[in-house]
Amino acid sequence: MYSEKVMEHFANPRNVGEIPDANAVGQVGNAKCGDIMKMYMKIEDNVIKDVKFKTFGCGAAIATSSMATEMVKGKTVDEALTLTNKAVMEALDGLPKEKIHCSVLAEEAIQSAINDYRRRNGEDVPEDKEYTCEH
Ligand code: FES
Repeated sequence: MYSEKVMEHFANPRNVGEIPDANAVGQVGNAKCGDIMKMYMKIEDNVIKDVKFKTFGCGAAIATSSMATEMVKGKTVDEALTLTNKAVMEALDGLPKEKIHCSVLAEEAIQSAINDYRRRNGEDVPEDKEYTCEH
């Protein structure tokens, strides 16, 4: 059911934890399944120097967040905003259809953290859109 890469990232997730002096913090969640994803970033000169996540979520959410954080580390915020859950899933050699929505949690947590960074820098960023998990 799960690819070797998904199982490997689930068993050894990268970038788990918090960044105490993060200057970008995002959180997305879903009331229905109870999954919550929190993303911390240390951004300098618009480059994501460090990123960590914590989740109260399923294995697919852990694996996709692990991969997604690896993919945005060292990137500019603009590059990170172009990361899609589809690209993360491809990097993990796919996810079962019924777990695709879990990968959206990682994508949206990254966006939420970057929005927080932009607000802190005085940019006029709209409120985060509501994450809706369809199950
Ligand atoms: Fe809802 Fe994985 S079960 S995010």
